[in-house]
Amino acid sequence: MTSTDVRPDAAAALTFPPGFFFGAATASYQIEGAVDVDGRGPSIWDTFSHTPGKTHQGDTGDVAVEHHARYREDVALMADLGLQAYRFSIAWPRVLPQGAGRVEQRGLDFYRRLVDELLGQGIDPWPTLYHWDLPQALQDEGGWTNRDTAARFADYAAVVHDALGDRVRHWSTLNEPMCSALLGHQAGQHAPGERDAVAASRAVHHLLLGHGLAAGVLRDRGVDHLGITLNFTPMTPATDSPADVDAARRLDGQQNRMFLEPIVRGAYPADVVHDLAAAGAPLPVQDGDLEVIAAPLDWLGVNYYFCSTVRAVEEPTGKATAFIGGECIEDLTPEGPTTTMGWGVHPQGFTDLLLRLRDEAPGLPLVITENGSAWPDEVAADGQVHDGERTDYLVRHLAAMTDAMTLGADVRGYFAWSLLDNYEWARGYAQRFGLVHVDYATQQRTPKASARVYADLIARHTQAG
Ligand code: FCB
Repeated sequence: MTSTDVRPDAAAALTFPPGFFFGAATASYQIEGAVDVDGRGPSIWDTFSHTPGKTHQGDTGDVAVEHHARYREDVALMADLGLQAYRFSIAWPRVLPQGAGRVEQRGLDFYRRLVDELLGQGIDPWPTLYHWDLPQALQDEGGWTNRDTAARFADYAAVVHDALGDRVRHWSTLNEPMCSALLGHQAGQHAPGERDAVAASRAVHHLLLGHGLAAGVLRDRGVDHLGITLNFTPMTPATDSPADVDAARRLDGQQNRMFLEPIVRGAYPADVVHDLAAAGAPLPVQDGDLEVIAAPLDWLGVNYYFCSTVRAVEEPTGKATAFIGGECIEDLTPEGPTTTMGWGVHPQGFTDLLLRLRDEAPGLPLVITENGSAWPDEVAADGQVHDGERTDYLVRHLAAMTDAMTLGADVRGYFAWSLLDNYEWARGYAQRFGLVHVDYATQQRTPKASARVYADLIARHTQAG
């Protein structure tokens, strides 16, 4: 089945304002491989992925898609697609193998070379300082449950800026602190694999504090285009019963508002503070922290994939939950087609989310830092990957985004997740999100049909502009 025959027309109908930019995103541990190269220290994802039973078929990022060795080829692919910007993350354990102290210049040199290659191709680099690969040495001291890690993160931000600040304008501190904190410490599905509400709530606050401290360091060094990426999942109650409505409020609180509100208005939502304290896991806020966390930003990174419908149940579901005190809340199976991740396809939810952010983060420009979908792609006999579902998802979400822009959402750019098929964390290599297919046996890259649609759309946009 392929719908690629019709989708390019839908894509052709889309228009974007002058100055709007398109890119693609990746993250260090998902693509680089080379975990033992040039003095890199171990990260919590090395430890987690090598722990039996933690990831799909025991998959690890040891090799991934060999981007560390193949970055030139990958930047050339980006240039072929006409990408205007590239969002990637910097591996903290490449730069500071022990998390703090000794700086590994060879680690920094890799990112210097990558950035130079991007600039040489006219592609704007958008590094993220932390996309989940905490140095294991810091985890051994408590990781994000330890307040000191926030200060270490700010030190690391300074080291990276000192190396790249002369050639990078756009800086992001964290990717999806919700996942680091709650999938990592409450659900146990991500590194470091804890299931402890107290640890989770400490990680929430220390990640946000680390963001604020790093933001201060970057500002002091003259950064004028600074942001953070949050992941938003709209929560809808299954019915209008008070119990379901309260379940949706609780999950919206921990998924969305607990991260957005301290950043944009310097306060945690009162209902979330209450829920966490009632669950015996209060946020460990100290005097002055919220002023640090609310450091002014120039843009907010928005990651959007799907929506959830939730309902309250009498007995604990027995499933791991990312939400503190969420044991009696069920996340319903989405209606309609689902991606291989099991996620639904909800473009309208994207429009609604962007309009919500227009209202709840007024004056803060938005950048879509991730959006995309995983499908069971294969290279066909004709040598092509006919990923009609991905094209459909891409075009419908771009249309949903432009709908919101027409209604006043200030969206400045869009990064597709992902440039390449890659290591999808605990789901391993079974989930393919790339615009470009990777044969994991040979590392051969093959742009999928969706990549061509995206490239055509970018070409039309840049020629029109
Ligand atoms: C996001 C992550 C990204 C990728 C996508 C599918 O939560 O930021 O690394 O795994 O999901």
